[in-house]
Amino acid sequence: MPLHTIRLLAPALSYPAAEHESLLEAAQAAGIALQSSCRNGTCRTCMRRLESGAVEYRIPWPGLSPDERSDGWVLPCVAEPRSDVVLGAPAQPGWWSGSGSAGDE
Ligand code: FES
Repeated sequence: MPLHTIRLLAPALSYPAAEHESLLEAAQAAGIALQSSCRNGTCRTCMRRLESGAVEYRIPWPGLSPDERSDGWVLPCVAEPRSDVVLGAPAQPGWWSGSGSAGDE
């Protein structure tokens, strides 16, 4: 199973992810605690912009509108990488907890 590199723009970090891992699970495995809540694609807490790369969803109808999907928003808790991925800023800023210090803005 190929490993892909996931690069976050905010905070500026990178981590590996296998195709069977969600972007959120892989971040947690790398010690990066991104914001999440439901972890099943419904609450939208984890929503970020997909700046580049390809993902596939574990569930048929993740909690994004067609317009949001076409605008490049993704839900990392249920999105699995199919290439190297760059994730942009979160939709809900001000919530980075991975380093114990607040904020990525
Ligand atoms: S954590 Fe709820 S949609 Fe991702």
